[in-house]
Amino acid sequence: MTPMNRLKASMVLDKDFKIATIDNRIYGSFIEHLGRAVYEGIYEPGHPTANESGFRRDVLKLIRELNVPIVRYPGGNFVSGYNWEDGVGPRESRPRRLDLAWRTIETNQVGTNEFMDWARLAGTEVMMAVNLGTRGIDDARNLIEYCNIEGGSYFSDLRKSHGCKAPHKIKTWCLGNEMDGPWQIGHKTAGEYGRLAAETAKAMRQVDPGIELVACGSSNPYMSTFPDWEATVLEHTYEAIDYISLHQYYSNSANDPASYLASSVSMDQFIKTVISTCDFVKAKKRSHKNIYLSFDEWNVWYHSHAADSKLDPWSIAPPQLEDVYTFEDALVVGSLLITLLKHADRVKMACLAQLVNVIAPIMTEVNGRAWRQTIFYPFLHASKFGRGYALNPVISSPVYDCKAFTDVPYLDSTGVYNEETEELTIFAVNRHLSEGLELEVDVRSFEGYRLVEHIVLEHDDLKAVNKAGEESVAPHKDGNAVVNGGMLSARLARTSWNVIRLAR
Ligand code: AHR
Repeated sequence: MTPMNRLKASMVLDKDFKIATIDNRIYGSFIEHLGRAVYEGIYEPGHPTANESGFRRDVLKLIRELNVPIVRYPGGNFVSGYNWEDGVGPRESRPRRLDLAWRTIETNQVGTNEFMDWARLAGTEVMMAVNLGTRGIDDARNLIEYCNIEGGSYFSDLRKSHGCKAPHKIKTWCLGNEMDGPWQIGHKTAGEYGRLAAETAKAMRQVDPGIELVACGSSNPYMSTFPDWEATVLEHTYEAIDYISLHQYYSNSANDPASYLASSVSMDQFIKTVISTCDFVKAKKRSHKNIYLSFDEWNVWYHSHAADSKLDPWSIAPPQLEDVYTFEDALVVGSLLITLLKHADRVKMACLAQLVNVIAPIMTEVNGRAWRQTIFYPFLHASKFGRGYALNPVISSPVYDCKAFTDVPYLDSTGVYNEETEELTIFAVNRHLSEGLELEVDVRSFEGYRLVEHIVLEHDDLKAVNKAGEESVAPHKDGNAVVNGGMLSARLARTSWNVIRLAR
């Protein structure tokens, strides 16, 4: 390709084109009692790095590196059959239960109080989910009393008797999980769920008026009930809740990289439809309140489906959903993060699902090492540098058509301006499978800003993976971005994730 016909894209980033202040909780994650997420993941008494409570310090270190502000717990599908009382009090008297969602045995050796202790060590808040599958209002109000009331009542004193003198003060609560899904224990119609969620919200707020509540939206945008589900649920819950949830997992099971790399187009459409549905109900109700979005399950998930179908039921902490992520998965995760940033005005929370071993950026060996999967890196970069204002980028990029979408821009990009540190960060994915992309960014409103670094994640092989002790997919800092006279130029390597940082 001659310099004349090289692929070119441009972007304008202006300090004054602000979408919104980013809620840091969009860099949240998720730990479910599922597979080896809890047992052998965060908790492994006897591991050489385990602390006195059995939590792995090597895993905690990697999680702290990601700086995750909020972690959803304890499920997921698991929560719809969970009795929270099984997981509190003396460990030796906790029951072993069948977990019907994942067909395993739950030992209950980790429960609410242990998880709250772990969260403090991980430097994160907890987004606690209540069981609206097999249970309801009564258990939800009891659990919040157990967690959030100082003392002087049955459940708050029970917590104290379990050794937790101070209340956990959990602010954010999910009203069930994926209640639209026929696979969910206690699956409900939108009307049934909407009424139950509204009444549960009322009771929970009577216990603690300071909480925030997330109602279940659709399990994915391909559900036949989407988006009627959201409209009906919001009809019932509009004034009672603060957020509606979105879940979506992305896959390259068809091995079609061009379509797969465009996955964020689907996320973007999903978000826009949910926003429209929220605002439709707002208009109908003549309300002045906005409902915000909690994208509290998102990630790539497909590599482990075949292995999971061969697992025998009723074992403890089997290796379920252990996707080994490729380099192309990291590009998709980067693109999805860019999409969340572009909706910073409405998406206030998001959880990369999940955090350890189960469709996760961090993997562990029993009694052995912990390591970073490929997707660790875009998440790390966004969480570290993507704090401040989301800017509204004006992008001009050549486009392509693929099986799943038309007019997909090769350049997926956005900018974040951190006023406090006076830093501008550009996140960019070049989706082109074979060509580099010449990028020009107009940053004239950032007068006097100079290049700090241009981080690149690239690899010759889209299917490259990381293993214990062998990180073949890792970022380098040899990107070629330059800033001159308010214009930034960089060549974005084919299929690459780029983080270009400027500061004063
Ligand atoms: O994250 C894995 C599972 O995906 C969760 O348990 C469920 O909510 C979703 O279907």
